[in-house]
Amino acid sequence: MKFAFLGAGKMASAIIRGMLRAKVCGPSDIIAACPEPALLRKLKDETSVNVSASNAEAAAFAPAVLFCMKPADVAGAVEQAGAALENKLIVSIVAGVSISSLAKRVNGCRVIRAMPNTAAMVGRAATAYACSDNVTPADVEVAEAVFAGIGAVFPVQEKMLNAVTGLSGSGPAYIYLVIEAMSDGGVACGLPRKLALDLAVQTVIGAAEMLAETSEHPAVLREMVTSPAGTTMAGLRELETRGVRSAIIEAVSAATQRSRELSGE
Ligand SMILES: NC(=O)c1ccc[n+]([C@@H]2O[C@H](COP(=O)([O-])OP(=O)(O)OC[C@H]3O[C@@H](n4cnc5c(N)ncnc54)[C@H](OP(=O)(O)O)[C@@H]3O)[C@@H](O)[C@H]2O)c1
Repeated sequence: MKFAFLGAGKMASAIIRGMLRAKVCGPSDIIAACPEPALLRKLKDETSVNVSASNAEAAAFAPAVLFCMKPADVAGAVEQAGAALENKLIVSIVAGVSISSLAKRVNGCRVIRAMPNTAAMVGRAATAYACSDNVTPADVEVAEAVFAGIGAVFPVQEKMLNAVTGLSGSGPAYIYLVIEAMSDGGVACGLPRKLALDLAVQTVIGAAEMLAETSEHPAVLREMVTSPAGTTMAGLRELETRGVRSAIIEAVSAATQRSRELSGE
């Protein structure tokens, strides 16, 4: 199957690399378009996909068109692609642009709206997606294959996408902050800076993999490492006293609310 990308920035490039790595298709089956020739040249040099300065040429190339431009550029991109978009499958990762607003702009299109995250760059994204009513099972298979190339994929209802944005969309930044704070704690207690950061990163990777591989509830794994009157209990008590749990709940809620505002809801 062939794929067209409108937008050739960080996310488009990560998705294309993931698709090629996962052998969803070959480089000759992909075309990418965007206004910046240097971006297209770099993408072509690095991945051997086809490139074009024309959204219309790109959209005409494939039955599935991925929208990977910024929200403010959607209207212009649709106008430039014109009739070549009609009756196609549109897979959009554009934050805050609803399925109905895309469906209104393009005659006869079927829309899958997805929210990946920045870990797409290392093939470990969490991507949630929602579908317009006219999407077919074959369309869903296509989108699942595309996003499986960059990580894990979760079908959701469209109304959940703001909360997805607040949790997994913005989530990498929360974890960066936690890792930075853990390594600062290590430095405060006498560890060299690099060692402290390496230990914090590996600890977060290890804890996440423990959860993914055992499928245990986090509380079960936490209790397993918390011995009576021990070191971990002393640390956890401090986190609870300082409200870290509720701070994280409120962070996800605030980001969800901000996503609603930016979507104009
Ligand atoms: N970054 C993330 O973690 C993340 C996560 C989830 C969703 N998203 C969504 O993904 C989308 C892309 O994000 P990004 O980080 O990849 O941004 P980016 O690196 O800035 O890429 C945007 C791309 O769109 C191109 N573009 C601009 N106007 C266009 C037009 N009229 N037609 C076709 N292409 C056009 C840009 O070209 P020029 O450089 O020439 O302007 C650039 O190649 C955004 O809508 C964002 O909301 C991003």
